[in-house]
Amino acid sequence: METKTYPDYETLSAAVAQIMCDNIRQKPTAVICLASGHTPLLPCRLFVQKANDEHLHISEATFLGLDEWVGVPPENEGSCHYFLYNTVFNPLGLQAGQIHVFNGMAEDLSIECETMDDVIENNGGIDLMIVGIGMNGHIGFNEPGVPFNHLSHVIELDKTTIEVGQKYFPAATTLTKGITIGLQHLMNANKVLLIANGEKKAAIIQQTIESEVSNQIPATIMQTHKNGIIMIDAAASSLLS
Ligand code: GLP
Repeated sequence: METKTYPDYETLSAAVAQIMCDNIRQKPTAVICLASGHTPLLPCRLFVQKANDEHLHISEATFLGLDEWVGVPPENEGSCHYFLYNTVFNPLGLQAGQIHVFNGMAEDLSIECETMDDVIENNGGIDLMIVGIGMNGHIGFNEPGVPFNHLSHVIELDKTTIEVGQKYFPAATTLTKGITIGLQHLMNANKVLLIANGEKKAAIIQQTIESEVSNQIPATIMQTHKNGIIMIDAAASSLLS
């Protein structure tokens, strides 16, 4: 694992967008998995801008949504679906067959998980994952205590996730479970970028990089990834020793 620090969120975001474009340029059939949330917003916008400006050949790439709130419909602006379609998929003009996201409203969530696992396998694995980090050290909805060898699964949300998650929703929303790509997929991915910005992420970033690897802080798994990069701004790096 490598740690890269950037002066601010803008330069961090530009670096992430560059890696995304380079990845697709090198491998037009790349499988890219994207987190939603506030951190990936600017990286995703810059990626779309760059891809469009540079006429990046994107029609053979596959895009996966990392996670979703169970019971939240896609038209809810707090859903991961809403974020990814509005920020990335629609502005890029992707075809439906290039996109695979979890349906948090599905009657049978185990089928959602199996379908995602099959898509990943049938496309030869994930080439690039862009993930954020929760205030409790989660990645996607891989909450504290999650086994590291899980593929896609449904999980009870941690108290912190439920509280912090309210920030995405226009009104108070009942959040109980999440559906997520698992950490075994992250370990199998060719390259993983864990991105974080701002002072509020400094403590969890310090623990992620400097604590022992433990599923109590799921993001510590990054320490064991052969091609994992923690990309942070100066504020998020401020507690590193
Ligand atoms: C959310 C999502 C994650 C996201 C993380 C951080 O709950 N499940 O995929 O990466 O928390 O979000 P943010 O970037 O808004 O801080």
